[in-house]
Amino acid sequence: MKWHILGAGAMGNLFATRLLQAGQDVSLILRQPNPEGYYQLHCLEGKARRTYTLTAQSASADEAICRLLITTKAYDTQAALASVADRLTPDATLVLLQNGMGQHQTVQQQHPSADVWGAVTTAGAWRPQPDELVCVAAGETHIGPFTAETAALPAGWTALTPAPIYVQDIQTALWRKLAINCAINPLTALHRCHNGKLVENPEFYQQMQQLCDEIETLTHSLGITLFATDLIDQAAKVAQATADNRSSMLQDICHGRPTEIEFITGYVCSQADQLGIDLPCNKALLSQVRALSAT
Ligand SMILES: NC(=O)c1ccc[n+]([C@@H]2O[C@H](COP(=O)([O-])OP(=O)(O)OC[C@H]3O[C@@H](n4cnc5c(N)ncnc54)[C@H](OP(=O)(O)O)[C@@H]3O)[C@@H](O)[C@H]2O)c1
Repeated sequence: MKWHILGAGAMGNLFATRLLQAGQDVSLILRQPNPEGYYQLHCLEGKARRTYTLTAQSASADEAICRLLITTKAYDTQAALASVADRLTPDATLVLLQNGMGQHQTVQQQHPSADVWGAVTTAGAWRPQPDELVCVAAGETHIGPFTAETAALPAGWTALTPAPIYVQDIQTALWRKLAINCAINPLTALHRCHNGKLVENPEFYQQMQQLCDEIETLTHSLGITLFATDLIDQAAKVAQATADNRSSMLQDICHGRPTEIEFITGYVCSQADQLGIDLPCNKALLSQVRALSAT
């Protein structure tokens, strides 16, 4: 089975290697592929080093796209997908493996006959150089149909290692990841601190608590059960477990890159607005991070 991957960054390359290892044919869609049509990727995972040869093509290549994994940042989804829209088969499978919410609905509306999937992962990876990938956490990946009515994973995904976890209710999985991201990422960006500081510093912890309380007010109204315990407990657990990490939002701000804030806190605030619910702490944080973010 052939998978095209749009968004050849850390996650795109990580899942390219996983799909390759699972025996899938993979081609990454790059803004500027080299003329050879392939590149070597050196991967480091724990002590294991492996080199993969990955096929690459441009968005304007002729090949039809039946299965597309989208791993751009959330804010690049629409433009990236538009660049290959004329290559998509009418019933193409589109898997969005990204943080944030809102982009799934947009993709679904723009490609009503496509089979749209959502996926969230706790895997962690980064690229010290364009031809290097460091996988820091194999993580768990939850995937579920956004539009399709099926209990079967997309072609080839059953053979991935680690095995993805199929969830019928991907909306709740997306909300769980979103809620944790809302509690941690913008605050670390604002305070320019590692995740662990949010539990160590009483003032930061109180802010995290307020954000979590507001998000739970919203999710209760939406009929979504986030976790068996309070969101603040889950967020504190994640912040502690990733104490030495600098969130992607903090890194984006430090490097002068755009952030995913509109698809994280921005999404939560817009959902609350539609229901007439006020989320003052999340709204204030949204404005503060917007002011820090490159556009
Ligand atoms: N990295 C992690 O550990 C991790 C963990 C969990 C979730 N996530 C989520 O996964 C998603 C991807 O994150 P990431 O860290 O992999 O991001 P990333 O390294 O920045 O990769 C995104 C890639 O998308 C490409 N792209 C953007 N617009 C494009 C277009 N129009 N055509 C072709 N390629 C395009 C970028 O290409 P250029 O380089 O040419 O701009 C870049 O290579 C995000 O939503 C992130 O929050 C990441």
